[in-house]
Amino acid sequence: MSNVGRVCVFCNSKGGVGKSTISFLGSLSLYMIESDRQTTFVDLDSQATSITALQKFTNSRFTIETCHSYMLENGQLNSGALTQFLTGRRRNGYQVIVDMPAASRPQDLLFVGEGDIVFIPTSASDADIAATHTFLQTLLVDDRRGKASPFVVVLPNMIDDAEDMQVIRRAFWDFPVFLGRPFSYNRDFRKIFRSRNDDANILKALQAGSEYFTWMHSVIYGGAESRIRSSRLSVI
Ligand SMILES: Nc1ncnc2c1ncn2[C@@H]1O[C@H](COP(=O)(O)OP(=O)(O)OP(=O)(O)O)[C@@H](O)[C@H]1O
Ligand SMILES: [Mg+2]
Repeated sequence: MSNVGRVCVFCNSKGGVGKSTISFLGSLSLYMIESDRQTTFVDLDSQATSITALQKFTNSRFTIETCHSYMLENGQLNSGALTQFLTGRRRNGYQVIVDMPAASRPQDLLFVGEGDIVFIPTSASDADIAATHTFLQTLLVDDRRGKASPFVVVLPNMIDDAEDMQVIRRAFWDFPVFLGRPFSYNRDFRKIFRSRNDDANILKALQAGSEYFTWMHSVIYGGAESRIRSSRLSVI
């Protein structure tokens, strides 16, 4: 096990593309796969839907952070406080999963460091693709970070068939980003935020997504060969 921590940020200015669904299930899957590692889920959405549903899974190895410590009085993200928090977690070998709210802007991602991964879910709908396109364009030209741009993976979500994938592949062909595996549309993925005592909905969703999250784990912990930046969109 590498002792270097990992920070995975799920973001897109567009709402309803699956940031919370994938980061929620991803955090539990990564917690189970990386069984010697500490996991922290950071919910930057003030509605804290994920926090409420994840609360019952917290233990000495799985912790959750609400957005309150990382917000300024004006409601903007306190990038400095978040950067400081994540630096400590990386150093201590944590895997941290950050779920960003809708309407986040690329400049809200200044806390993302080198080696961190930015996951950008989108469906194949025209509206989601147009918004994601604009978001990525701004993110990739944002040179204020003064360091390497982040490792970006577009995550096709709610995918029905190969045509959906083709639509997404074509839309982001010219961006220096990677294209993730398709995350299919699945009713079980809609039921994870229900409060139920037996966790049956969450277990079912984790089972349905197990291959997907094994893939995501390999992207996050893969060796240098899977981190080679592509000048063109390539499927990983
Ligand atoms: N693969 C999927 N299959 C079925 N339903 C899905 C899938 N992904 C997301 N959903 C549903 O789509 C809706 C939006 O998903 P989610 O809340 O994860 O998006 P979000 O990007 O976090 O939205 P917001 O920006 O508002 O926080 C939810 O009702 C969720 O259950
Ligand atoms: Mg959300």
